[in-house]
Amino acid sequence: MPLMEPYRIKVVEPIPVLTRAERTEAMQTAGYNPFNLSADRITIDLLSDSGTGALSAAQQAAGALGDETYAGARSYFRFHDAVAELTGFEHILPVHQGRAAERILFGAMLGPGRVCVSNTHFDTTRANVELSGATAVDLPSAAMKDLDSDDPFKGDIDLDALSAMLAGPEDVAVVVMTITNNGGAGQPVSMANLRATAELCRAHGVPLILDAARFAENAWLVIQREPGWSDRTPAEVARAAFDLADGAVCSLKKDAIVHMGGFLALRDRELATRCEAMLIATEGFRTYGGLAGRDLEMIAVGLREVVDPAYLRTRAAQTEYLAELIQAAGVSIVRPAGIHALYLNAGRLLRHLEPAQYPGHALACELFVAGGIRCAELGSLYLGVEDAEGRLVKPAPYELVRLAIPRRVYTQSHLEYVAEVIAGIAKDPESVPGQRIVSAPKLLRHFHCRTEPIS
Ligand code: F0G
Repeated sequence: MPLMEPYRIKVVEPIPVLTRAERTEAMQTAGYNPFNLSADRITIDLLSDSGTGALSAAQQAAGALGDETYAGARSYFRFHDAVAELTGFEHILPVHQGRAAERILFGAMLGPGRVCVSNTHFDTTRANVELSGATAVDLPSAAMKDLDSDDPFKGDIDLDALSAMLAGPEDVAVVVMTITNNGGAGQPVSMANLRATAELCRAHGVPLILDAARFAENAWLVIQREPGWSDRTPAEVARAAFDLADGAVCSLKKDAIVHMGGFLALRDRELATRCEAMLIATEGFRTYGGLAGRDLEMIAVGLREVVDPAYLRTRAAQTEYLAELIQAAGVSIVRPAGIHALYLNAGRLLRHLEPAQYPGHALACELFVAGGIRCAELGSLYLGVEDAEGRLVKPAPYELVRLAIPRRVYTQSHLEYVAEVIAGIAKDPESVPGQRIVSAPKLLRHFHCRTEPIS
């Protein structure tokens, strides 16, 4: 069947369409930082797939049943049962979003001198490891280095490097596998790699934790790409992944298709008890953890909807379709296409720009000015290192732009519009000006900096 969404639209929200002059002005006012744009200026918002999905009628209806009892709310038990059914974990704590689970878990497990190893830490995950005083080490697979290859599981961890690390002198306290690997261009992790990681962890007595924000999308790509899994359901594959781990931190703003939520799940009772104390002190009582009863209800429904093969098939096909249109216009993406986002190779498209002219950021700005498309770079503005005078001394390894695709929000014609805007830029890439930094704070620079085009 061709690309056809397995749902119809019951509630609509108008989207702003501005003139090029109005968008240019909006970009100037925002200091050329997409994070500073207000939603009423944006035509297609591809900044994040987090908390931006469309609720189903069933989720909305469940929300109306939200039980706002302080402790022991009925909604908590429905949330708990849905997470337990999916993951099989014994101890389940709700949190308001994924990073709260990270902060609580790493606060309990890590500390100065300890090391957390990952296929790639997402930025909040790394920040929470470092806030505990520990060190975060990424060991992405060698396949990840080649942006153009079609290796099906570039999100894997480098098993040889992990094995050496676990046998070495470092005090590795935990291994975190991010599925799918968001910091690694949204690439999936194979079950074979996850199983080998679990075996290495067990042999060294180190717990394995999943960062499971996109557990269903990873499961779908395993079914499509990994020999031996094609006849399994997404729920079965997801369960097989959770079965290999000692626990999970999970942002539910992605694959539970809700606006807010997360969980921390563990097998170890003693660790869970320590985390629960921190949860109560900083998030809320163990039966709500910073969420309203209505959120817990909508999560329970979303977790069952997201593993529907009809939904996942269309979601993956949407991204694949956009990838084909973009590549047909002569623009490279990190291959193969994942599901939650596409990563444009801005360095290759804007060859006339040096890394110090921030080609990724320049392309993100141009996408907004040309078509009202908001997205953000993953290149030297975010990952580069500057000297005291603000000169870029260590560029990022790649200059990418992430187009993150919200769940159930945009239709095929929206994606065709996005591809058309990109194709327009690709016709005359040299007209895209580089960017220079006007002001930048030391901390979380990409969220706050202001830049301007180089004339
Ligand atoms: N882990 C991964 C892999 C993520 O992608 C995110 C969020 C988090 C943890 C943190 O979860 O936002 O609920 O606190 N990613 C969003 C993104 C922000 O746009 O990729 P959170």
